[in-house]
Amino acid sequence: MAQYPYQKASKYPDLAAVYRNCSGPGGLKLAEYMADAMDLQPGWKVLDVGTNRGYQTCFLAKEFGPFIAGIDPGRNAADILMMNAREWGVEDRVLALQLGVPDTKFAGESFDAVYCTTTLEMLRGMHGEQGYLEGVAEIYRVLRPGGVFGLGEPMHRDRPIPEEIYPYVTQGGRPAPWSVCFSTLDKTAALLQSAGFEILKAKEPCDGPLWWQEFVTYDPEVGDDKVVIERDQNRWVTFGCIIARKPARH
Ligand SMILES: C[S@@+](CC[C@H](N)C(=O)[O-])C[C@H]1O[C@@H](n2cnc3c(N)ncnc32)[C@H](O)[C@@H]1O
Repeated sequence: MAQYPYQKASKYPDLAAVYRNCSGPGGLKLAEYMADAMDLQPGWKVLDVGTNRGYQTCFLAKEFGPFIAGIDPGRNAADILMMNAREWGVEDRVLALQLGVPDTKFAGESFDAVYCTTTLEMLRGMHGEQGYLEGVAEIYRVLRPGGVFGLGEPMHRDRPIPEEIYPYVTQGGRPAPWSVCFSTLDKTAALLQSAGFEILKAKEPCDGPLWWQEFVTYDPEVGDDKVVIERDQNRWVTFGCIIARKPARH
């Protein structure tokens, strides 16, 4: 049962379509939760890091009214985002670019806000903790002083791995490739602080289990995640959202 009001996401009730076009738990519910927590305002210049097909980007542009530069290094991501932006009627407020962190090419202090869901943890998987840190440092660089960073990503609780999911989280006693992407909420908040951010909110939202459940039910490419989520019963796998601010200049 959804707890958050989702006044905007509920306008898009076809969850099969939402999860076909988003990649990760939460879909448009996550986007609305994050945008509200970031206090996203019409007219803001926002950077969306890791858009994939850009459904969340289009939703944010349409329902909250910012200008959004969406970046993703994926080969077709920019074309697909612009195709979706035209379908959503927001092509005048969305710019899609084939770029990624840490080399975004933007001038420092270009954005009022940075939005990033289910992307930075992939950098950890590909390039280790250093890759994650470099992504965060770039986000800090392109934000204006006082600008807001909204981060939402799969995380794990700070507790032993339940034995029911142990074979999926590890391979022969070593962490499975996907599981090394995940960190805890506290460690992630500490990492953002060490990069210079002030933490405004760090939370595992009450609806995280609902978002995971929707993901394993509707995402057409879910694979083993379905078994993990069903066996885990919300004990180890979680979803964390952090709203942080680059300190204002005094
Ligand atoms: C799991 S998808 C998340 C997409 C979207 N935020 C959503 O929730 O629907 C992660 C995306 O990050 C992109 N990505 C990978 N490396 C990246 C980088 N260095 N900078 C920005 N995006 C990156 C991938 O191409 C992929 O499309």
